[in-house]
Amino acid sequence: MTMRIQIDAGGAGDVKADTVVIPITNPGETPSTLPRGLSGLDRRMGERLSDAIRSGDFKAGVGDRLVIYGPRGGDLVRVVFIGLGESDGIDDLRLREFGGRVGREVNRESNGRVALVLPASAGLSPERAVPVIAEGALLGAYRFDQYKSADRKNEKKTTTKRLRIVTTRKVKGLAALRAETKRAVQIAECQLVARDLSNEPPNTLYPETLAREARKMARAVGLKCSVMNVAEMEKRGMGAILAVGQGSQRPPRMIVLEHGATAARKRKGTIAMIGKGITFDSGGLSLKTAAGMLEMKHDMSGAASVFGAMKAIALLDLPIHVVGIIAAAENMPSHTAYRPSDIIESASGQTIEIVNTDAEGRLVMADALHHAVKTFEPDAMIDVATLTGAAMMAFGPHATAGLGNDEDVLAELQAAGRAVGETVWPMPLLDAHTKEMRSKVADWKNSGGPIGGVSTAGAFLKGFVGDTPWVHLDIAGSGMTSAQTPLHIGGGTGVGVRMLTEWVRSRAE
Ligand code: BES
Ligand code: MN
Ligand code: ZN
Repeated sequence: MTMRIQIDAGGAGDVKADTVVIPITNPGETPSTLPRGLSGLDRRMGERLSDAIRSGDFKAGVGDRLVIYGPRGGDLVRVVFIGLGESDGIDDLRLREFGGRVGREVNRESNGRVALVLPASAGLSPERAVPVIAEGALLGAYRFDQYKSADRKNEKKTTTKRLRIVTTRKVKGLAALRAETKRAVQIAECQLVARDLSNEPPNTLYPETLAREARKMARAVGLKCSVMNVAEMEKRGMGAILAVGQGSQRPPRMIVLEHGATAARKRKGTIAMIGKGITFDSGGLSLKTAAGMLEMKHDMSGAASVFGAMKAIALLDLPIHVVGIIAAAENMPSHTAYRPSDIIESASGQTIEIVNTDAEGRLVMADALHHAVKTFEPDAMIDVATLTGAAMMAFGPHATAGLGNDEDVLAELQAAGRAVGETVWPMPLLDAHTKEMRSKVADWKNSGGPIGGVSTAGAFLKGFVGDTPWVHLDIAGSGMTSAQTPLHIGGGTGVGVRMLTEWVRSRAE
C-alpha cells in the first residue's frame, strides 16, 4: 500500500475535498472557539463548525471524533473534527496516533478526496507535525486484506490512497518540509512491507519465496543480494540452520543483502543486521500446542524488520556499508526432522546438543551471526528475532528486549528507538546465563528452559559473535500483537524498521 501525500501551505479556505479532517485541541477545558484560520471553511459549511464548537458538546479529548455534514448544495460533504487532547505537551506519539486516525478517515473514503487542515492555533508547528502525522497516516491506514475475495475481485480498488495536508499558515522552507515528509513516508512504507511479510501465510511465504521477495526488492532499490541454497550452506558447514530446516519439504535459505559496498562507504564502517526468518514454527518434534502454534507464521518478523530496514536504507542511500542477513527456515516435525538429543556442528565449529527442537531460532541465528562476523567483520552488529516466549511474557507488545556485549551499541539503539517511538529495554546477559547453556556432551545445548529465557537465549547467541560489538533484540512481544491501536490493527507490527533505519542514519553521520 502506498499513500500519495501532497502538502500545501498558507490558507485552507478554498480547500477542495469530500472529507476535511481538522484536529482540535483543548486548552485544559472544552474548546470554546474555532481555531484561527478556519473562518473560510466555516462559511462554506454554513457556520456549522463554529456552531458545533459553541455547543460545547465536543470536548476534543484524544481520539474524540465528530462528523459535521455540510449544507445541501454546498461543495463540502463533511468535516471531521478529531480531538488532539490538551494543547500543552503534544508529543510525537500523540501526533503519530492522530496521523493514524487521519489514515482511517482516508480508508473510509474509498473514492473521495480527503484533506487534513492544520490550523495555526492548534499549538502545532507544521514543520514538526507534518512528517510525523504523515508517517502515522500510513501506519494507521494499513490493512492486510489482499486475501479477501471481495477485494481480490474489485480491480478498480487501487492500492494508492491520497491525502492532502493543508496548513492555514505559511510554512518557512516548504520544500524542505516536503522532502522530510517524503522520507518519513518512504520509511513508513518500508515498515508496511515488513508487516506484509510478517502477515503473509506460511503456505505462500517460505524460505524460497522469502528469498525471491528479497531478490525482487534488492533489484528494485539497488541492493546486492545473494542467496545460499542447501548445497552452499553445506559447503560452509552451516549445520545449525540445516538441522532446523531438514524436517521441512521447503528447504532453508541464507539471504544476504548488501548496501553501499564501496571502499568509500566502508571507510564509514560496516554494520550488520541479522533477522530470524522462521517462516513457520511448529516447534518441530518438540511440538507446540495448537494455541502456541497459532501465531507462528509471524516467526519471521525479525527477518521482516531487516528486510524493511535494508529497503529503507537503500532508498535513503545512507552513506555507510550495511549488510542484512536473513536466516530462513521452516521448523517442521517429520521423519527427516532433527531430534532432541541430536548433536550438530555449527558453522563456527562449535557443537550444540539439541534438547528442544522448539528452540530453533537461536540455531539459525548462530550460523547467520557467525557468517556475518567472518565474512564482513562488522564494526557493529545487531540481530532481531522473535526468539522467546519469555520476552513476550515480560514485555508484551510495547517494548523490545535489548541485550548484548556492548553498552554503547545498546544505548545507540535505545536512542534511535526513542527518536522514532519504539522502546528498547535492557535485559541482563551474565556469565551465569552462559553457564546454563553449557551441555555435558557438547559445547552448547540449545535450551536453558523458559526460566530466564530471554537472557539464556541471548547468552547462547553471544557464543557466536566473537568480539564484535553486538546487541540482540528480542521482538517476540513487540513484533506481533493482537492489541489494536490507532497505528495498528493487529498482526505483524513491522517493529524495528524505523528504529534500525534511524540507527544506521545516525551511524552514517
Ligand atoms: N518462536 C518461538 C518464540 C515465540 C513464542 C515468539 C511466542 C513469539 C510468541 C521460539 O522459537 C520458541 O519456541 N522458543 C521457546 C524456547 C524454549 C524451548 C527454550 C519458548 O520460548 O518457549
Ligand atoms: Mn520455536
Ligand atoms: Zn521460533
